[in-house]
Amino acid sequence: MLRTHTCGELRLSDVGKQATLSGWVQRTRDKGSVLWVDLRDRYGITQLIFEEGKTAQELLEKARSIGREFVIQAEGAVVERLSKNDKIATGEIELKVSKLTILNTAKTPPFTIEDDTDGGDELRMKYRYLDLRRTPVRESLQLRHKMAQQTRAYLDSQNFIEVETPVLIKSTPEGARDFVVPSRIHHGEFYALPQSPQTFKQLLMVSGFDRYYQIVKCFRDEDLRADRQPEFTQIDCEMAFVTQEDILNTFEGLIRHLFKSVKGLDFASVPRMNYDEAMRLYGSDKPDTRFDMKFVEITPLTRGKNFQAFDSAEIVVGINAKGCAEYTRKQIDELTEYVKRPQIGAKGLVYVQYRSDGTIKSSVDKFYSADDLKQWAEKFGAQPGDLMLILSGSTDAARKQLNELRLLMGEKLGLRDKNKFSSLWVTDFPLLEWNEETKRYHAMHHPFTSPKPEDIKLLDTDPGKVRANAYDMVINGTEVGGGSIRIHDRPTQQMMFNHLGFTEEEAKKQFGFLMEAFEFGAPPHGGIAFGFDRLCSIFGGADSIRDFIAFPKNNAGKDVMIDSPSPISQEQLDELALLVKQTKK
Ligand code: AMO
Repeated sequence: MLRTHTCGELRLSDVGKQATLSGWVQRTRDKGSVLWVDLRDRYGITQLIFEEGKTAQELLEKARSIGREFVIQAEGAVVERLSKNDKIATGEIELKVSKLTILNTAKTPPFTIEDDTDGGDELRMKYRYLDLRRTPVRESLQLRHKMAQQTRAYLDSQNFIEVETPVLIKSTPEGARDFVVPSRIHHGEFYALPQSPQTFKQLLMVSGFDRYYQIVKCFRDEDLRADRQPEFTQIDCEMAFVTQEDILNTFEGLIRHLFKSVKGLDFASVPRMNYDEAMRLYGSDKPDTRFDMKFVEITPLTRGKNFQAFDSAEIVVGINAKGCAEYTRKQIDELTEYVKRPQIGAKGLVYVQYRSDGTIKSSVDKFYSADDLKQWAEKFGAQPGDLMLILSGSTDAARKQLNELRLLMGEKLGLRDKNKFSSLWVTDFPLLEWNEETKRYHAMHHPFTSPKPEDIKLLDTDPGKVRANAYDMVINGTEVGGGSIRIHDRPTQQMMFNHLGFTEEEAKKQFGFLMEAFEFGAPPHGGIAFGFDRLCSIFGGADSIRDFIAFPKNNAGKDVMIDSPSPISQEQLDELALLVKQTKK
């Protein structure tokens, strides 16, 4: 071994021992008579000391020749430090070096390898292996490791079997575009990378595996965001002979186990809310329930006072921003500008200030009397000191806009604390969703999700009203998982494909294997998949999933370190019988 101890290990109790450490040079400080070197490895930092007069001259010169990020081995005696550093675990000792070996030199890194680095995003991505040397990034991946271990421990204890499913498959319709892989042997034919192992896990239920899981890579060619990567990882699970209730309980168990074992947090059961209620109270199917600020509808109270915007609106709905009555004109204008941005699209924002002295001032004083506004305030449960922010319009649009405003206010009021966790099951999602572009219904979750039996009769008359046996888990306003009870018989699956606009021929071509399997004794089954990267980032208190992935893609879907995607040689293209259209860069 090139070391007897790690750089995070030695303590005062080791003083007097001989030790050999290996690691990277974090930094050197040369005071002339004394030279200190901070030696770093995965476990911590230990200070090395070289002293003029006490250290051999040759050794001292060698120590002076080492630079940042050199890889060295140092042997010496553990001594007590004169000035101690209580910020690091090894801060009471240092290693008085008697032998130094330079294991490798290093170029000066393009950014500092410290917790707060001076490197920009793109540079750190290009030198990701250096970024991974930084403690916060390494800790994020250690957290991920722990989460994976604990997930396996819990699911194993619940009798789940981990099964690997193939990566070269054919298209699964999860709503995003597929990444495809051309076949060399079958020219003009393509594999697709799985958007999820959905159909395979259902087939495993037909095979009698009963409880399956897999921590698995999934691939989706979609626009990237902070919580989306083109390749990401799911904790993918499926169970046979279960009801929705069994699934919710089992996976609530997983989440509670993770919170307990990874963060030491105890949670009572995860609350539930159906989709309609989530939309009514929060305007979102993934509400951030770390804070209250629920929507209040005041539509009838606003009618008939000649305020055109409200009179013509399908809904008048608002939130009560507690303690914000004294917001200045400028602050309110900023909120108005925010909701009027094209991405949000509100026409305007009405405010009502319930001032601390009990008087009420609003942007619609011309239309509504103090008594009218008092009534609104009552409906909002507002107290003196509160600010009511109100939007109007079509129900869906106004709710969506107010959701954005609510999240902004939550942020401004410090109610979205990253160290606080609030989970929620959202249930009873609609089965189908109207798509304006294609002018037809799409499956909101996926086409294998079963409709609620009592709603099947609506499929022909009012498809948008049919509810599904589908559920999402939401933590802190992020959808961390979603699943459903599946269809498990051929006629229902066929009917579902019909409603989604597949011809019988198309359905058979794409999913004939699954429908056929349903004819060989498919048990009732259902499951869920959690976005593992998202779970890790939430547990780590981060906004982006990137640092919880060892080698992520950038915002443009590129790996700038290995330069991917990139062109392939003409020879490879010929072999695959592919013609590439030249596009200007
Ligand atoms: P769904 O499509 O809802 O369900 O995906 C499950 C979870 O995966 C995470 N997720 C992502 N994470 C990072 N980057 C992405 N691009 C990305 N896309 C999705 C989300 C999401 O909740 N087969 C079904 C599951 C089932 O029905 O059992 C499925 O994949 O956290």
